[in-house]
Amino acid sequence: MAESPIVLLVALRYIHVLAAALWVGGGIVVLAARAAANMPPLPGATSAALGRTVGRLVGTGFAVFVVTGVLLTFNRLAEQSIDAAYIAVLVSKTLLALAMFRLAVPSRRQSEPQAATSDRQPWWQSRTAIIVGLGLAIYLLSLVLNEMAELSFRSVG
Ligand code: HEM
Repeated sequence: MAESPIVLLVALRYIHVLAAALWVGGGIVVLAARAAANMPPLPGATSAALGRTVGRLVGTGFAVFVVTGVLLTFNRLAEQSIDAAYIAVLVSKTLLALAMFRLAVPSRRQSEPQAATSDRQPWWQSRTAIIVGLGLAIYLLSLVLNEMAELSFRSVG
């Protein structure tokens, strides 16, 4: 992939970064809705219906991240200048991403019919808050990866 056409790499990065922005941004919107005091439950939106929608979104997001992420990884690892520190950060990022997706898969428990927006825990202790926190950490690690790659190119060339 080192000599791949630039348009392909830009397309990959575009899809990957767009998915990251939608994932983290969407999570923050859900958290904000939960944090809003006295928000009435959505009419007809049971946890089962919401769980199916979230399940589809998580499945699509997972596929997009894995496909584009693996191709970006091959592209980076093809560079001579990439060192062990870059690989260590990339492995940490990937493990965090897998933990985040595992957490995002709706549990069977959610198929119980109940109001979709009801949540006994405060918003900052919710599973969504942990998912958003992991997403933000992963986003930060991605920027660190980018800087590490840039620095390694500069030190070689
Ligand atoms: C299987 C999961 C994933 C893999 C293997 C993966 C891999 C990668 C790789 C190799 C890069 C290029 C880094 C560089 O410039 O050297 C990248 C960029 C990026 N990734 Fe991921 N990624 C994954 C999931 C995620 C997730 C879940 C998020 C966000 C929540 C994310 C956010 C980003 C962002 C924002 C960049 C662009 C950084 C920049 O160039 O400014 N990635 N990813």
